[in-house]
Amino acid sequence: MKSIFSHRLIYLVSLQLLSILNSCSSDKSNETKVVLKDEFKQKAEMKNQEMEALLHAACLYCHKTQDIPGEKELAPKMQVVIDLYKAQYPNREDFVKAVTEFTVNPQANNTLMQSAIDTYKLMPNSGIVKQDAEDIANYLFDYKFQ
Ligand code: HEC
Repeated sequence: MKSIFSHRLIYLVSLQLLSILNSCSSDKSNETKVVLKDEFKQKAEMKNQEMEALLHAACLYCHKTQDIPGEKELAPKMQVVIDLYKAQYPNREDFVKAVTEFTVNPQANNTLMQSAIDTYKLMPNSGIVKQDAEDIANYLFDYKFQ
């Protein structure tokens, strides 16, 4: 998990640099802009792949996306969690705040799922950094597990 996080840091720094470069080149010709746009599209796809990897490593080990025969469930399914939080916090900002808060610091007195705590016990604190939790929460807001 550690290597994913450090890889992620390098990635975020390079993304930052790219956006600075792009803002400097805003007065270039259309042709350059098209190339840059493609580059951004590629970056966006990379970002999605990266988020998938992070989500799998950090969350989906416990929050499965479907039943696995013969395997004990460790946590409620991720889509169940998302649906419940979305019902309570329909706008993105509130959703991201609530999911991030619980993820970085799971507390029984801050739960929307008391019955899940009774069934599975309180989610352990994984030590995930806030920025990663926030990115995951943002990604989950748009996610629909099949
Ligand atoms: C080690 C297993 C495990 C991992 C890893 C895990 N969770 Fe959980 N999570 C649980 C369990 C068990 C519950 C149900 C009990 C509870 O709500 O605390 C839960 C509940 C939740 C809830 C609902 C909290 C509530 O009670 O209202 C959210 C939101 C959540 N997890 C988000 C995440 C996110 C995001 C990740 C990845 C960054 C993640 N979890 C990783 C085990 C895990």
